[in-house]
Amino acid sequence: MGNLTVIVLAAGGGTRMKSKTMKVLHPIAGRSMIGHVLRAVEAVDPRQIVAVVGHQREQVGPHINALVPDAVLAVQEEQLGTGHAVRVAIDAAGTTSGTVIVAAGDTPMLEGESLRAFAEEHEAAQRAVSILSGIVANPFGYGRIVRNEEGDVEAIVEEKDATREQREIKEINSGILAFDAEFLLEALPQLTNDNANGEFYLTDAVRIARDAGLTVGAHVLEDFTQTEGANDRVQLAELGKEMNRRIVTRWMTEGVTVMDPATTWIEADVVPARDVTILPGTQLLGATVVHEDAVVGPDTTLKDCEVGSGARVVRTHGELAVVGDRANVGPFAYLRPGTQLGIEGKIGTFVETKNAEIGDGAKVPHLSYVGDAEIGEGTNIGAGTIFANYDGVNKHRTHIGRFARTGSNNTFIAPVQVGDGAGTAGGTTVRRNVPAGAMAVSSGPQRNIEGWAEAKRPGSRQAEAAAAARTAREQQVSTEGPGVGSDAGRG
Ligand code: UD1
Ligand code: MG
Repeated sequence: MGNLTVIVLAAGGGTRMKSKTMKVLHPIAGRSMIGHVLRAVEAVDPRQIVAVVGHQREQVGPHINALVPDAVLAVQEEQLGTGHAVRVAIDAAGTTSGTVIVAAGDTPMLEGESLRAFAEEHEAAQRAVSILSGIVANPFGYGRIVRNEEGDVEAIVEEKDATREQREIKEINSGILAFDAEFLLEALPQLTNDNANGEFYLTDAVRIARDAGLTVGAHVLEDFTQTEGANDRVQLAELGKEMNRRIVTRWMTEGVTVMDPATTWIEADVVPARDVTILPGTQLLGATVVHEDAVVGPDTTLKDCEVGSGARVVRTHGELAVVGDRANVGPFAYLRPGTQLGIEGKIGTFVETKNAEIGDGAKVPHLSYVGDAEIGEGTNIGAGTIFANYDGVNKHRTHIGRFARTGSNNTFIAPVQVGDGAGTAGGTTVRRNVPAGAMAVSSGPQRNIEGWAEAKRPGSRQAEAAAAARTAREQQVSTEGPGVGSDAGRG
């Protein structure tokens, strides 16, 4: 589009949120409300974006600039009304020509395409003012679009200033307006605060345009949800649910199987590929990417993760983790930041990983903690293994080579290295490096203290069982020689 300035109004307090966080910063589908608005605004390719900030501007300003570095921040010290806010914006931006679009920072459902169609229609019709309007069942609280007998827009009348007949009007102002900049510059000084709210209403510019014989029009947006705002947390949850429904629906139309859309949450920046299957109770959050044919869920939460093609992630919680192609994760795995699982690797049940590079085909199948570790290709880690990475002061790394086989119930005391093709016996506490191809054994030989239960736990069920077994064994020995329950005869 041509010479376009977009003003986003975000100076209001949002007191009904009852929050220390400013209203427009509340997240919905993984982005702040104003983040959604700014994303929609990108679709009209504005020459300049001006955000009007006031309340908690020390929070809001940096957030806006993080998303749109060259957005101009206009500070409105006192919230004297939308007309005043736009004046502050125009002064800060020095806008003199082209089209000016005004939007609110709390309408997260607005889609870029709708805004673009609205701006295009406004420019094509060469109007002084265009209003993005909607027909709603309950218009309470909105400015009403007043039309004359010919159907031309005459004015916007705010709820508090409306007559009883005007309050019956169902066509309302979404709050998104487009102006010819030259007209806006003439109209702003003419606004007064002579109304029920004592505010400078931007919407009065409509009547000013009509009185000057200029064209005004309203563009009805059928999908009125797009212009709905969230003023409290109940509305925030409702919009959040609706936005999720739209996102999930869009991905299904793109070829993603979602078994239960009602319990599946996909945030705005998540990208699932075609033929991904998402099972019930799954949340895909942040910048998560899921490649083709992967199956995620049920009951899985992944934030900022990448899941390789054909991988399976079952009942897992993951954050900043990468799962390789055709790898298996879960059920009941906890992937913490820095986890990288190779192609066809496995992170199994009750396994927690952090800063762990687990190679192609390597497996950590059961009941383990893997922190600050590298595990080479094809290596298998025995059940119940702990990578002891913390000495109470510093974190250290453990390196395990390729095609190693470590026994069950091992502890790797980092820093330590296990070479390629090495092994460790069950119950080994690995404190020293294990050379390639060696077998590490740290536990001493087993010692059986005969008769311990009866001597140390007299009168207990344990002692009774031991005594019964001893009696049976003695009888067997007296008739047939040594049998079950004796170590005699074992190699
Ligand atoms: C406004 C419109 C109304 C429309 C409704 C849609 C006016 C006078 N009325 O009413 O026709 O139906 O939006 O939701 O414009 N803001 C500032 N500075 C101010 C005042 C407001 O930045 O001095 C910001 C608010 O933070 C908010 C937006 O402007 O983002 C709208 O202000 P609000 O007070 O909510 O206006 P409404 O009464 O809802
Ligand atoms: Mg409002």
